[in-house]
Amino acid sequence: MIQHQLLAGKRGVIFGALDESSIAWHVATQCVAEGAKITLTNAPVAMRFGTIQQLGEKLNAEVISADATSTEELTALFQKSVEILGGPLDFVLHSIGMSLNVRKGKTYTDINHEWMHKTLDISAMSFHRMMQVLYQTDSMADGGSILALTYIAAQRVFPDYSEMADAKALLESFARSFGYHFGVKKGVRVNTISQSPTRTTAGSGVKGFDDFFSYAETMAPLGNATAEDCARYCASLFSDYTRAVTMQNLFHDGGFSSMGVNPAVLSKE
Ligand SMILES: NC(=O)c1ccc[n+]([C@@H]2O[C@H](COP(=O)([O-])OP(=O)(O)OC[C@H]3O[C@@H](n4cnc5c(N)ncnc54)[C@H](O)[C@@H]3O)[C@@H](O)[C@H]2O)c1
Repeated sequence: MIQHQLLAGKRGVIFGALDESSIAWHVATQCVAEGAKITLTNAPVAMRFGTIQQLGEKLNAEVISADATSTEELTALFQKSVEILGGPLDFVLHSIGMSLNVRKGKTYTDINHEWMHKTLDISAMSFHRMMQVLYQTDSMADGGSILALTYIAAQRVFPDYSEMADAKALLESFARSFGYHFGVKKGVRVNTISQSPTRTTAGSGVKGFDDFFSYAETMAPLGNATAEDCARYCASLFSDYTRAVTMQNLFHDGGFSSMGVNPAVLSKE
């Protein structure tokens, strides 16, 4: 593992490590290897089904349960994290996504709109809610960095990604809109990372995942970015080397988003 103490002395909160396959699991591990002190958080239900407690023990990080759709639970989470870590937060990762319609096999043209509310609440509004709590409680340090993970279906059509595409478009918009306010107030950066298809619980839940994983792998000159690659990119964006990067959607996809056609795809059987 590459490590350069990029985050020495920094404090952070990592959302969304469910199990070893989670992107957030790798980000948390990388951040601690880079010298950061962190707390880990996930929804109460994930505490029962996932293995986040093991990660907490491994990284010597407190695990705090919080539903990202609850302002009260987010407020308690950040207050506790600031106390435990001994000061305001230098970085926060939002790595949360869930669609009931996708999970229950409802197609995009036959959406259950009650479930869609839930998808938008969990996968996108939670990002605004989280930033609003951080902003109002003044829990971020000057020049801090906030990141959320997204997918290119926000800009291009990937039919099986269904309503999650719309949730990601909203998520990316929140990064720009809140990035303005946080930048003016505290020099805090807000960005989204648009990650390659990655084999995780959320990723593999999307119909046809294996096909678009291998399509992207062939299309991208560098191949798909892995969860470990993503963790290193996150560490760089949490570090002081990227102090002027904000309000951006940053593609981290081995070049996939800039490709038109790749002969390697055409020559595939
Ligand atoms: N896997 C991919 O192919 C891929 C590609 C691009 C972007 N992403 C994004 O990366 C992020 C992380 O996903 P992942 O692939 O690591 O899968 P994952 O299933 O490991 O992570 C999703 C997390 O969201 C958490 N979560 C769900 N509801 C919650 C709630 N109410 N409150 C708090 N947390 C809640 C889950 O417990 C889980 O830890 C998501 O935003 C996902 O959309 C994934």
